[in-house]
Order: sequence, then C-alpha cells, then structure tokens
Amino acid sequence: MFGLVAEELHVVMAEVRERTFALVAHLDEAQLNSTLNPIMSPMSWDLGHMAAYEDLWLNHRVAGRELLRDDLAALYDAFETPRAVRGDLEFLRGDALLAYMAEVRARALEAPVGELTELVIRHELQHTETMLQAMALAGVTPPSFHGPDNVDGSGLEMIEVPEGPFELGSDAHGFAYDNERPRHASSTGRYTIGRTPITNATWQAWAETGYASREFWSEAGWAWRSEHEVTSHPGGAPNAPVMHVTHHEAEAFARAHDARLPTEAEWEKAAPLLDAVGAVWEWTSSHFTGYPGFTPHPYREYSEVFFGDHYRVLRGGSVATHPRVASNQFRNWDLPERRQLFAGVRIAR
Ligand code: AVJ
Ligand code: FE
Repeated sequence: MFGLVAEELHVVMAEVRERTFALVAHLDEAQLNSTLNPIMSPMSWDLGHMAAYEDLWLNHRVAGRELLRDDLAALYDAFETPRAVRGDLEFLRGDALLAYMAEVRARALEAPVGELTELVIRHELQHTETMLQAMALAGVTPPSFHGPDNVDGSGLEMIEVPEGPFELGSDAHGFAYDNERPRHASSTGRYTIGRTPITNATWQAWAETGYASREFWSEAGWAWRSEHEVTSHPGGAPNAPVMHVTHHEAEAFARAHDARLPTEAEWEKAAPLLDAVGAVWEWTSSHFTGYPGFTPHPYREYSEVFFGDHYRVLRGGSVATHPRVASNQFRNWDLPERRQLFAGVRIAR
C-alpha cells in the first residue's frame, strides 16, 4: 500500500517539517537552546532528535546507509540521554542543527517509502506536542496556539453505554502502533460516561473544597498533593475543558462526584458516540500494558519498556495533537503526577 503513496508521503514530510519550524519561529536562539523546564528537553534537542530518528530508521535501517553522524547517536537517544541531563549537553544548535536536519532529510527522500516513513512522520508530530508542553510551561506558546474550544455542558452530563462485547484496538491493516494491536474481543458491563470533558467552571467549583478533602484522594494522590502543596488549579476559560491536571487530581475529582475514571476499554467503546478526539487528553484508570498477543514493533523502547504499573493511559488527543496521530485507538501514557500534558478528565460511573 505504501508504494503507491511515496510521493504523497514525501509531501507530508515536507509539510510536517514546515509546521515544526513554524511552531518555534517566535523563539530566539537562547529560548531554543535553554532548558525551559527541568522535566522537558531544550527545543533544539527535540529538533535534533527528530532528525536523528529519521536518520536511524529511514537512512540506516531501511536504506542500509551508515548513520550520517555516528557521534550523535547517543546524544539523541532518549534512553541513553534522559531529559534531566539534556540541557547540559553539546547538542546541535543554530546553523549546524539546521544543516544536520536538512542533510538527513535529503538522504531520507532517497530511502524506500513504507511503514517506517509513517512512523517517522508521526514521531515528529508527537515531539511537536512535547515541545508545545515545554512552551506552555514556560509561557511561550506560539501566537497561533489556542486552548480547546468551549464544550456544550459542564462535564457532569452522562450518556449510557449498554453492556456487551466490542472489538478493542487497531486491526491488521494500515499503520498502527504496536501497543494498539492485536485487535481483540473485549467487553464491558453497563456504564455511564461523561458526554464531554469536565470544564474549568466545574473543576473550580469542586476545587474550593476538593484539594483539602482527604477522603477524595488515593494514598499516592494525597502524598503528591501534600509534598507539592497543591491546593488549587490555575483555571481557564469557564466553559472549556480543564487542562493540565494530573492523574491524581482527575481521580480525586471523579471520586468526589461518586464517579471514577473510565477504563481504556470503556473509553474506546464509547469513543464513536462521543467525538472525543482532539480537545484534551483524558486520563483513564488503566495502567499501560500490552494487549493479549502483543508483539514489540519496530523496537521495544517504543512501548514495551513502559508497560507495568507506573504509567497510566491517556486517550483522545489534545489541541496540540496533530490529527494524523490522534485516533479512537491511540494510546498515550504518562506518570500519574505529570501535569505538563494537555490533559483533562472525563468521568464514568
Ligand atoms: C507516546 C507521547 C508517550 O513522547 O514518550 C516520542 C512518543 N516515542 N519518541 C513519548 C515518543 C518516541 C511518546 N508518547
Ligand atoms: Fe522520540
């Protein structure tokens, strides 16, 4: 299938790169090269990492060429060089960075086009969301960036989903991430789920007492809240979905409303009824694990090394998520204490 669309994918690669550069066009060199926030990478590191990933997958693995810059492999490997130390490194910047990105790209356009081309495209799109998170933390999002639209409702109006089986995950055709496969039979009991995400107005009404009420919080959530002295949420447009909440807060909010977070299965089953993609990421109660029969592809570090009970799954996609990446099946994951994500909450009962 990919052979037929080689030219189209090359156009997409060019458009995605243009979009990437547009998202950082308002930043100066110092902003690009400094650590905007300790849990995030410098923007320049992300840009170099995108190119290194493209060189590794398209030029090295697919086309069988030597890496353009062997000396950069460790620097731009997300595991060998974790976020906390990226700011201190001699990553490429300025003209050297642009030259590296351009040279990798010129070679990549000669590589056979296939599934890994799509992986590389989506990788860049995913990193631009990470970059927008860093910009949001530092208060320097691009002028074109805006939060999610208002929703029609408070977040507390529920729709009912009947019990019964359904198919969970992505089927064997076309591009999907390893963690979305294999598609398999799943089933839920009867439940209700919020028609929209919770709005800022609804959140703030709860927050007046919610952050001080021990009974709503899990043990881990209360410990997080106490350690970081979190007693409120910064808020936002009253009728827009609340954003930048942690899993801990989302869980406490739900419990305070005699509700809970949906499981991944409940979320995905309801998604076609909800138009739930593209406003805010929504925390689920599920840990990030492999579906039955999971096979790592194309490398273990994409998903498998994160499986277990540390990470929670988020579903839906935010205003910072490019539509090419977001889908009803897409699984995002992060630690429960993270609030840099454009993440909110949809409750279930
Ligand atoms: C799917 C968003 C959790 O950013 O860690 C980027 C995507 N994988 N580079 C991440 C990813 C490799 C991933 N998330
Ligand atoms: Fe990456």
